[in-house]
Amino acid sequence: MQDTNPSGKLVDKIIEHAEELPPFPRIVQKLMPLIQSMAPVKEIEAVIQYDPAIAARVIALSRSPLYARKYSVTSLRDAIVALGNKELIKVVLAACSARYFQGTPTGYDLREGELWEHSVSVAIMTDILTEHIKFKNAVTAYTAALLHDIGKTILHFHVKDEFENILTMVKKERINFLDAERRVLGIDHQQLGALIAKKWNLPDVIVAVVRFHHQPEKVVPKFRQITKLVHVANALVTSMGIGCGVDGLTQPFAETTLTELKISPKLSEKLLAEFGARFHDLKEFLGK
Ligand SMILES: [Fe+2]
Repeated sequence: MQDTNPSGKLVDKIIEHAEELPPFPRIVQKLMPLIQSMAPVKEIEAVIQYDPAIAARVIALSRSPLYARKYSVTSLRDAIVALGNKELIKVVLAACSARYFQGTPTGYDLREGELWEHSVSVAIMTDILTEHIKFKNAVTAYTAALLHDIGKTILHFHVKDEFENILTMVKKERINFLDAERRVLGIDHQQLGALIAKKWNLPDVIVAVVRFHHQPEKVVPKFRQITKLVHVANALVTSMGIGCGVDGLTQPFAETTLTELKISPKLSEKLLAEFGARFHDLKEFLGK
């Protein structure tokens, strides 16, 4: 999978490290089909109630100003009804993913929690874009966006030691951070992320988005639209400086995706404003 492999040893160590990552929570695998088949609230409650951390987050969000005006929530069941299927699965996904983003990603010169903030931001922006272009599979796009940089949660440990080498390469050879990761470490965060997503048995479409979120032109045609969505959402969030670290500005951006998705400068301003409002409302409830 690697484009280059300088020593082989380091890349083996990195992959071994990724293999140790705990499996993706089973609650998501159990919940997805229930939500898709519009199962009764009782059945959904039965799955969530055994995960106290998730149940607490579901209740907290349903009591937030976003929902509390419409419903008075006194139980998990009330909370599930108040959120509705789409919001519920998003909260559960966010709460489950948060666990993997804990710790300090010093490798990319990010503050603690910044990579998580970036991931949630890209997920919210993707959601806004999916509504805008009426993309059908909103939950898949949201999941892919949430996990697009999952490779960084492992790679940051190894980037730390090689950081100077990577930066020097970016500056001297005028290459982007992604290419430098590959040249110095033998693997980039997209490739590593795809390995993790595969190991978690996530659907092919999510593996593909994680693998090509910086290079949507390289993904197989059937997954191109969704990859472009996450690519553009990532670029918009990065343009606001949210959790992009030193590599943010040296990542490739496929300018043509903006025209392909019919996003004019005026529209992107509108999207950013909508994002601001939603991010403000959701931030504290999404899993820190
Ligand atoms: Fe990335």
